[in-house]
Amino acid sequence: MSTAISPTNLSTNGKYSLPPEIVIFGRTANMTTVQQKLEKVSVANVPILIEGESGTGKEIITRLIHQLSPWAAGPFVKVNCPAIPGTLIESELFGYERGAFTGAYGAKAGRVEMASRGTLFLDEIGELDMDLQAKLLQVLQDGQFCRIGSQEDKRLEARVVCATNRSLEQEIAAGTFRQDLFYRINVVSITLPPLRERKGDIPELADYFLRIYNESFGRNVPPLSSQLVQKLQSYHWPGNIRELENLMKRYVILGSPDVFATAFVKEAETDSDGFDFDIPVNGSIFLKEVTRQAVRKIERNIILKVLQTHQWNRKKAAKALNISYRALLYKLKEAGLQTGDDDDFDGEDMGYSAEMEGANEI
Ligand SMILES: Nc1ncnc2c1ncn2[C@@H]1O[C@H](COP(=O)(O)OP(=O)(O)OP(=O)(O)O)[C@@H](O)[C@H]1O
Ligand SMILES: [Mg+2]
Repeated sequence: MSTAISPTNLSTNGKYSLPPEIVIFGRTANMTTVQQKLEKVSVANVPILIEGESGTGKEIITRLIHQLSPWAAGPFVKVNCPAIPGTLIESELFGYERGAFTGAYGAKAGRVEMASRGTLFLDEIGELDMDLQAKLLQVLQDGQFCRIGSQEDKRLEARVVCATNRSLEQEIAAGTFRQDLFYRINVVSITLPPLRERKGDIPELADYFLRIYNESFGRNVPPLSSQLVQKLQSYHWPGNIRELENLMKRYVILGSPDVFATAFVKEAETDSDGFDFDIPVNGSIFLKEVTRQAVRKIERNIILKVLQTHQWNRKKAAKALNISYRALLYKLKEAGLQTGDDDDFDGEDMGYSAEMEGANEI
C-alpha cells in the first residue's frame, strides 16, 4: 500500500495550525515500522526521541507527530539547541521576569511556555550543555518550571520531542550527556534509517520531488529513465533525503540529467579507498611521479567530501577549503569533475542559489 501520510489521511481532531506535512514512508520494512510506531505514539502525550543521520527527516517527522497529536491546533515551537548561545539558552527556554538580570527591561515568556498545549521540539539535544541538561531534567521530572527571577511555578503542558544525529549512548559513555535525562526524553524512540538502507524507496521519493518541483517551478521535466533510477539506487547518499531532494530540484531547474553525473563520480571516488599503483615488469618506478599522483588523488577526495558537505555549492566549498573559487574550479577541471555545462554554470551566478538552498534549510 502506498506510503505518503499526511494528517488528512489519518484520523485526528481535524484542526491544524500548520500546512500538512507530506512524509513519504515508502515500502521498506524499517520505514513501515517507523510509520506504525508514529501513528501509535502521536496520540499519547509522551516524550519522543528521534534519532537519525543528517537529512533523514527528523524535523519533518516531528512536525507530522505534532499534526497528528491531540494538540495539533496548538503551537509548534522549535529550539535549535546549538544555535542559541550558551549564555542565552536558559532565558530562551524558560523566559524571565522584568529585572531578573541586567537588560531584562520587561518580562518575556520562554519557549517552553510558548509551546503550551502544543509541541516543544528540542533539535540537536546532544549539544545542550550539562547545566541546561540538569534544568531540563528537573522540568521533565516535576512537570513544572519558572521564569528566571520568578518564584511562580508554571506547568509544562507541551509534548516534548527531541532530535539528535549523534549517538546519545556514546555521549553518555563520554560523560557529556546525562543518563537520567536520556531516560526521560527517550520514553519512545524513533530511529530514522539512512537513505542507503531504504533504497527501495528511492523511485517513489524521486518521483515525489520531481512532481512537487515541476509544480513549484512551473516546469514539465520528464521522469528519470529506469537506468538512471537504478544508478540512484546504487549511490551511497551521505546527505540522505535532503541530498536527493536537492538533486531533483537541480534537475528540474536545469532540465538536464547531467546533474546526476557529479553524484555518481563522487560515489566512484569514495568507493576506492587508498591509492594503488602497478610496479612495471622491470621493477622501476618514478617515485616523484607516483607520489604526485597519490597526492592528487587525496586532494580530489578531500575536495569531493567538502563539496558534498556543502551540497555541491562551489563558492561555499572554496571558502571552507580556504582556496579561491577560481582555484577550486581549476582543480575540479583538472580532476575531471565537471559536467558538460559546468564551465558556464554556477548556481549562484545564475541566480538559482536562493531556490536551491531553500531545500537545504541550513
Ligand atoms: N520521508 C520524507 N518524505 C518527504 N520528504 C522528506 C522526507 N524526509 C526528509 N524529507 C525532506 O528532506 C529534507 C531534510 O529533512 P529534515 O530537515 O526533516 O532532516 P533532518 O533529519 O532534520 O536533518 P538535519 O539533521 O540535517 O537537521 C527536508 O527538505 C524534507 O522535506
Ligand atoms: Mg533537522
